[in-house]
Amino acid sequence: MGGRDLVRSVKAVGFVGAAQGLRTVRAAWRRRRADAVGLPARGAERARVPGQVREATPEPGGGVLRFSRSELRITVAVNGAVFWGWDGAGPEPSYALAGRCPEPDPRAVLEPDKDGGWRVVAERVTVVVSRNGAVEVRTPGGVTLRRDLPPRWWEPVEGGPARWMQRSEVASDARFFGLGGRSSGPRLRDGVYRLWNTDQGRAFVPGDDPLYITMPVQLVVADAGTHLVFHDTSWDGTVTLREGGEGAGSGHDRAGACEVRMDGGPLRCWVMLGAPARVLLAWASLTGAPALPPAWALGHHHARWGFGSAQEVRRIVAGYRERGLPLDAVHLDIDHYDAHQVFTVDQERFPGLPALAEELRREGIRLVSIVDPAVKAEAGNEVYDSGVAHDAFVRDGSRQPVYGVVWPGEVVYPDFTHARVRKWWGGLYEERLRQGFSGFWHDMNEPTSFAAFGEMTLPRSARHDLEGRGGDHREAHNVYALCMAKAGYEGLRELVPRQRPLLFSRSGWVGMQRYGGSWSGDVATGWPGLRASLSLVMGLGLCGVPYSGPDVGGFDGSPSAELYLRWFQLGSYLPLFRTHASLRAGRREPWEFGAEVLEHARVALLERRRLLPYFVTLAHLARRTGAPYVRPVWWSSPEDRSLRDCEDAFLLGDCLLVAPVLDPGADRRAVQLPRGRWYDIATEQAYEGPAQVLVDAPLSRIPVLARAGAVIPTCGTDGGLELEVWAPAPGRTGAGLVVQDAGDGWEEPGVERYLARWEGGRVAVEREGKGGEEPPHPVRVRGLGGR
Ligand code: GLC
Repeated sequence: MGGRDLVRSVKAVGFVGAAQGLRTVRAAWRRRRADAVGLPARGAERARVPGQVREATPEPGGGVLRFSRSELRITVAVNGAVFWGWDGAGPEPSYALAGRCPEPDPRAVLEPDKDGGWRVVAERVTVVVSRNGAVEVRTPGGVTLRRDLPPRWWEPVEGGPARWMQRSEVASDARFFGLGGRSSGPRLRDGVYRLWNTDQGRAFVPGDDPLYITMPVQLVVADAGTHLVFHDTSWDGTVTLREGGEGAGSGHDRAGACEVRMDGGPLRCWVMLGAPARVLLAWASLTGAPALPPAWALGHHHARWGFGSAQEVRRIVAGYRERGLPLDAVHLDIDHYDAHQVFTVDQERFPGLPALAEELRREGIRLVSIVDPAVKAEAGNEVYDSGVAHDAFVRDGSRQPVYGVVWPGEVVYPDFTHARVRKWWGGLYEERLRQGFSGFWHDMNEPTSFAAFGEMTLPRSARHDLEGRGGDHREAHNVYALCMAKAGYEGLRELVPRQRPLLFSRSGWVGMQRYGGSWSGDVATGWPGLRASLSLVMGLGLCGVPYSGPDVGGFDGSPSAELYLRWFQLGSYLPLFRTHASLRAGRREPWEFGAEVLEHARVALLERRRLLPYFVTLAHLARRTGAPYVRPVWWSSPEDRSLRDCEDAFLLGDCLLVAPVLDPGADRRAVQLPRGRWYDIATEQAYEGPAQVLVDAPLSRIPVLARAGAVIPTCGTDGGLELEVWAPAPGRTGAGLVVQDAGDGWEEPGVERYLARWEGGRVAVEREGKGGEEPPHPVRVRGLGGR
């Protein structure tokens, strides 16, 4: 047992007693034994490379190349995305794809290339394959974005899944982003990143890797262009990244390098190229549009593990009310369950939950429930009995149930990779709806099983249905939470068809945005944790998951008043704005840190309310275009290298640049501005980008800059929609989009586009396509500098 393991078992004991501590020791042994018996031993292996290309057969969108020891299918889809798969792998079946695979582009042609190689030429991309199986993706202008070297497999002589490895080269100036939710990004430095969804078992800090959401998705940004690459395999693996640069003394640039190693699964890949917005659009069309949260979910949420009683919930809500602080949702953690059992309520401490929910609802506050996948394995527990009757739980190779340990003690796990089980589970949300819950917070779904040593998850030998194909936990682990999200989402769609589900999940995989979002998980309280929480939101956004946010204030311990405030201020500009903390952690209510913090937190909360129409617009745009609300500052100018390296600020949609304070003691900070004029929204001072500028960051606010010409939908003082227009730079024009929605439901609102331009000495605003008509909303022009 290592030091970290010891900490882990002590934590488990600390939270739930000695009996639980013993269980975690037993569970760890059980897991080890299960895999010793249930997994084939890795015996002798044979290495293989593709060999030389022998023949080529054209197919729509590309073709199949036969090599002496493998074959490679290449297809360019109508949206310009490139698929390639070795050893006969096609795009399906896949947990990542949203529906049917995109149609092949009929205009793409397969033709011979020099030196016996082949190429597929399409309008937006050229794919060149060398004689020995290196694959290059090139822009239409002929610039190479990536070069994948011939892969290598290791096949067990006795049969079974082959491991594989592939090295790739990218431009020397390329920067890597993505790989799911990483604590030390958003720019991914040189290192090894594991692809195995993991609960670290304690609060994490930057550098802890992997975390809850890993994805084999990289966004690579270079002077020559941006591309996204996705290795569609859910198995355990690693991605090793090495940024390029100037070779020491040689005068030559060293290429950037990436090596993907997988323990199994198909070797297949998607590549999308173009401007970041175009890449994310293609990505969303492939893996699914982000679910649209109900508008209330874009407000402020207050959570805590350990409210402990309905009275305490009322006390917190009254605290918000009496201080005039907006509040939109309260989250109940596992302490409201009866003995930690999912889909139950502790009737002593939370009697009459439906009435409490109704009472809050009248104040415009929703209740959100935690939902843990593990079910207490005890006859008499209704969910367990029903699950047994439905044959819902994961079993081992000899058809015995696989037990784990989570909060309620000994548990079993639904096999969400089975459609029938998902249907059963989805139906269980009916109980939550009856209790009055409006939103759902999926937790512990890596899945976690407490263990005193070894990995805190199911044995790799545990069997899963995998949509009828059958397989084990090695393949199912990373998609477990994705399938749980699908189950919850589809269940809710049936139970409350007129509502947009709010669902966010700690773990997940490629495509999870179809069902909802995520949150940071247990980010450690401290300034490094604050930084990590921004890294996670940006990284996930670039992987197609736009709705997420951290535990404001950090999960454990007690933040200083300053740290709490800075976290609160950052959180108020992130899609999921939620304060949350652990059972033993200090308070997180805005009034617990003194009068000054309370005042500044109030400003942040009111500004969030004021910007709600903008957040709603961003949610709609994310769904329609795949563009995350929170974008790196290089989003519109990836060719600007100084922006590529900027990790401490972000764009919120097209209009705002948010520069959070991430260090203690700061009262101003440097901000890297993209091209154009930017106004500090507090002082209206104008800055010209590209440039690095120093802006004030007093305790009362973090710097937020508006792009000149921006048209931002806001909530006016009368509660109606008001357009905030930032004066375009002289001689320039501006524009902005507005999507108004009813707050919930499925009606498709139109997108309104407004234009702003100088007319004589004033800024005129009109609605596009309406013949110069004035906007139907009040307009407030800002940034006129006294004019
Ligand atoms: C996990 C979650 C955390 C939650 C706790 C108790 O640690 O990440 O958010 O409060 O479990 O349910």
